[in-house]
Amino acid sequence: MTSLAIDGKDYPVLSGTVGPEVVDIRKLYANTGRFTYDPGFTSTASCESKITYIDGDAGILLYRGYPIDQLAEQSNFIEVAHLLLNGELPSADEYADFSRHITRHTMIHEQLATFYRGFRRDAHPMAIMCGIVGAMAAFYHDSTDIHDPKQRVIASHRLIAKMPTLAAMAYKYSIGQPFLYPDNSLSFSANFLRMTFGVPAEPYVVDPVVEDAMEKLLILQADHEQNASTSTVRLAGSSGANPFACISAGIACLWGPAHGGANEAALNMLRQIGTPDRIPEFIARAKDKNDPFRLMGFGHRVYKNYDPRAKVMGKVAKQVLDKLGINDPIFDVARELEQIALNDPYFIDKKLYPNVDFYSGVVMSAIGFPTSMFTVLFAISRTVGWIAQWTEMMEDPEQKIGRPRQLYTGATHRDYVPLASR
Ligand code: CMC
Repeated sequence: MTSLAIDGKDYPVLSGTVGPEVVDIRKLYANTGRFTYDPGFTSTASCESKITYIDGDAGILLYRGYPIDQLAEQSNFIEVAHLLLNGELPSADEYADFSRHITRHTMIHEQLATFYRGFRRDAHPMAIMCGIVGAMAAFYHDSTDIHDPKQRVIASHRLIAKMPTLAAMAYKYSIGQPFLYPDNSLSFSANFLRMTFGVPAEPYVVDPVVEDAMEKLLILQADHEQNASTSTVRLAGSSGANPFACISAGIACLWGPAHGGANEAALNMLRQIGTPDRIPEFIARAKDKNDPFRLMGFGHRVYKNYDPRAKVMGKVAKQVLDKLGINDPIFDVARELEQIALNDPYFIDKKLYPNVDFYSGVVMSAIGFPTSMFTVLFAISRTVGWIAQWTEMMEDPEQKIGRPRQLYTGATHRDYVPLASR
């Protein structure tokens, strides 16, 4: 089909390189005086993009064409960041250059560190991240001109490089330990682990299995096409807001339990279940229409098949628990819950499969992160995708401010009644 006729007018049908065609309804309102109605954007493509492709029915996720499992198994986070940002895997020289740029920006302005003291010690680290990342715009004035491509690149590198430093500081602040400066001789992941778990009094030795798990976690969550937080970043950016403000908006959106907060919710749920014998009780609750309880880490707006990220994450969870000698019953609960749900008609009919958050919480907990840091780790990783998507939008000649319309069901015109007469 090349076009779709509505009220006698043709609307072009556009094809991507792969995936469903889209009906271009940009002229619909002008032609018919009607809007489309699509709460939650379940049938709406908001932009054209070349970055990430998901086939939710087949359980496929590609970054710039490369399958996520190949990248997670064979690549590293810096290489994937280059791929997402620039469209291609780097050559050896490009890799060295990109690595150098990212490591050069790992330190933060010393005055930014004083911001942390303004927060309560028990502040959620995501609350701190929303504030601190937004505040970066007050410190890096030379990279807030969004119309200068060089400044956009510098802002991108700053955000990717500084997120681990800021996140580790949020954690250190919450436990009352001193901040650690970055060590640029370490990999992206190892550096973050050291800043989080190291102390100035002792050398910190990075466990290669943990470092590898961290890299995989970061790769798996780096981008996911037009999800809620990415759409938030694009929407914020569409008004011309600076990149630090846009990423801060993305962090705020990611925080919600239906999105990035789900890994925290999934682990809390596994702990609440506690032992495999209690699983049927929770499965019954998830199926009960009158109970708001959902199986966290299950279901996805796009994946109607096994989330390919969950497959890798399940393997990583086993490796980390084995290596660290952790005999955590929640892994048994997770395994058994997965098997029961995968064979239950309710979950089969609704195509509810484990998503990436089902096992990522187990991995992060085994590494030593408190649940409050889970979404922060997601934000470190997703910053790459947000920045790649924001950059793509800024370079798109068709870009315009995002401004959805509505189906208004409120009061029609009525005249103001003074207080004394009401
Ligand atoms: N447990 C039990 N029932 C569920 C679940 C679940 N986890 N997820 C969906 N359903 C049911 C839901 O009740 C509904 O049933 P019915 O058609 O009878 O009303 C049906 O499945 C469709 O659900 P929906 O809420 O309309 O689907 P959605 O696409 O709007 O929601 C979701 C997707 C991810 C918000 C949802 O599956 C959910 O809340 N899952 C648990 C939270 C979670 O794990 N979120 C992480 C998403 S992956 C991370 C990311 O990429 O950000």
